Amino acid sequence: MIFYANSHGMNTNIITIPPQSSISYAMRTQKNKHHGGVLWFTGLSGSGKSTLAQILQKRLFDEGCQVYVLDGDHIRQGLNRDLGFSPHDRSENIRRIGEVAALFADAGIIVLCAFISPYQEDRNRARLAAGDKFHLVHVNASVELCEERDVKGLYRKARLGEIKDFTGISAPYEIPHDAEIVLDTAQHEVEYCSSVLYNYVRTHLFF
Ligand code: ADX
Repeated sequence: MIFYANSHGMNTNIITIPPQSSISYAMRTQKNKHHGGVLWFTGLSGSGKSTLAQILQKRLFDEGCQVYVLDGDHIRQGLNRDLGFSPHDRSENIRRIGEVAALFADAGIIVLCAFISPYQEDRNRARLAAGDKFHLVHVNASVELCEERDVKGLYRKARLGEIKDFTGISAPYEIPHDAEIVLDTAQHEVEYCSSVLYNYVRTHLFF
C-alpha cells in the first residue's frame, strides 16, 4: 500500500468519517459517574509530581473512578523511548503525551500526567489538545529543595556533569502562571496536598 504525504507531512489517505454507532462521551460519563479529565502535573524532578499522582490515583480508584497515571519514567521506556532531553525531544515528548491524555479524557477516564514539562508552549499545546478537560497542577518546589531531596541521585550526577541538560541545573524550567492548582510541597505535607487535589477533582469532575 502506498501512503502519500502532503506538504505538512500528513498522510492524505487518512480520512475522518463520523463514527457509525459508537459510545458517546455522555454515555461513558453516565456509567463512570464522573467526567473525564486531564490533571497535568508539572514541576521539577523530585518536586513530588509522581508521588501525588499515585496517591490521588489510589484514592479515586478506591472510590470507583476510572483513573490512570502516566509519568515520564514510565512513558520514556515505551512510547517515547526514542526521545532524549533536548528542547526538541522534550517538546515532542509532551506533544505525544498531550494527545494521548486527551484521548484518555475523551474516553471518560481521569488521567493524571506527571511530567516535568518545562516549556510553557508545550503545556499550552497539551491544554489545547484536551480543551476544557485540562487542569494544570504546578507542583512547586525550589531547585534547592529538590536537589536536597535528590530521590533518584540525578541532581548529584547533573552537578558532576554526568547528565547534561538537567532541568533546574543546566536546562530551564518555565514557571507556569496559568495553573488551576499550585501546590507548594516545601510548605505543605503530602497529606494536605493530596486532599487539595482530591477536593478539586470532586468539585470539577464528579457529578
Ligand atoms: S520532560 O522534561 O520531557 O517533561 P519527563 O517528565 O518526561 O521530562 O522525564 C523526566 C524524568 O527523566 C526525571 O524525573 C528523571 O528521572 C529523568 N531524567 C533523565 N535525564 C534528565 C534530564 N536531563 N532532565 C530532567 N530529567 C531527566
